[in-house]
Amino acid sequence: MSLPAQVKIVEVGPRDGLQNEARPVPLESKIALIDRLSETGLSAIEAGAFVSPKWVPQMADSAEVFRRIRQKPGVSYPVLVPNVKGLELALAAGVQEIAVFGAASETFSQRNINCSIGESLERFGHVCDMAQSAGLRVRGYVSCVLGCPYEGEIAPEAVARVARALIGMGCYEVSLGDTIGVGTPLKAQRMIGRVAEDVDIRHLAGHFHDTYGQALANLLAVLQMGVATVDASISGLGGCPYAPGASGNVATEDVVYMLDGLGLETGIDLARLVEAGAFISEALGRLPGSKAAMALRLKAAKQPQ
Ligand code: HMG
Ligand code: MG
Repeated sequence: MSLPAQVKIVEVGPRDGLQNEARPVPLESKIALIDRLSETGLSAIEAGAFVSPKWVPQMADSAEVFRRIRQKPGVSYPVLVPNVKGLELALAAGVQEIAVFGAASETFSQRNINCSIGESLERFGHVCDMAQSAGLRVRGYVSCVLGCPYEGEIAPEAVARVARALIGMGCYEVSLGDTIGVGTPLKAQRMIGRVAEDVDIRHLAGHFHDTYGQALANLLAVLQMGVATVDASISGLGGCPYAPGASGNVATEDVVYMLDGLGLETGIDLARLVEAGAFISEALGRLPGSKAAMALRLKAAKQPQ
């Protein structure tokens, strides 16, 4: 089995996780979550989204969140930006890294950002130029890489086209999202194989939602191909407001447990991660959505004091 020596985890819980919560999550809980995550050894924590508050109300306080978190040196705090307006607001808040987010499905693109794939790429081109002139790093996302809630199957060729365009406009990395979590390992490998014909695999990241319980298996399958960056969400929080029925991302605690078991370096302290997951689960009034976290907490509770 060939695996990368080191794996980078991009924590997307404070954004991808919380954006889908039906009830407003207090500003203080968002800040406290990010501050806790900053102490775990994670090197990238997506802190919010500068999107229209009418479209995603839960992210309306992202500027305030960003201003008030304790930024740890060496950790990046990217935010989602869909257009020039979002970029201007992000710059005003002092953001240093943004992520633009496109899709491999036309219908999803329309539902999510109200424009076609072609229009979105043109828009992102302007955003990338402006962001790079301001010294910002830009990450790219492609959603619906293994299936779309509106169109069903998505051809790997369509994913490659968008990933190539994002790299072409200067994104340093493209995260390939199984937004609705319908993928299985062989499909994930075929998709990565096709995209890697056009984009160096070192610039690709895997982003798996766990709707069908396949996220960890998909992740391992793409790690075996050389993908060395994975997105994950604390406590398995999340879903996308424009992807009905999709469950959360793969839980960060489960990913770290698996990578530790594989002997892969992440630099992340699992115990602290479990604490951060317990904190946000309690704030949301539910049990942690990570199996590893639940097992470790049960084990700790059984240990004699
Ligand atoms: P639109 O309605 O076409 O935008 O939405 P517009 O330019 O016509 O503007 C409409 C109003 O929104 C105006 O305000 C603008 O000022 C305002 P009004 O005059 O009506 O008061 N506006 C903004 N306000 C704040 N920040 C902005 C902004 N832009 C416009 N940036 C738009 C187009 C892209 C804005 C909208 O569709 C949008 O915000 N979509 C975001 C959807 C979203 O965040 N989805 C979830 C993230 S994607 C995801 O989860 C998938 C991912 O995780 C990967 C995976 O899982 O696969 C990334
Ligand atoms: Mg997502």
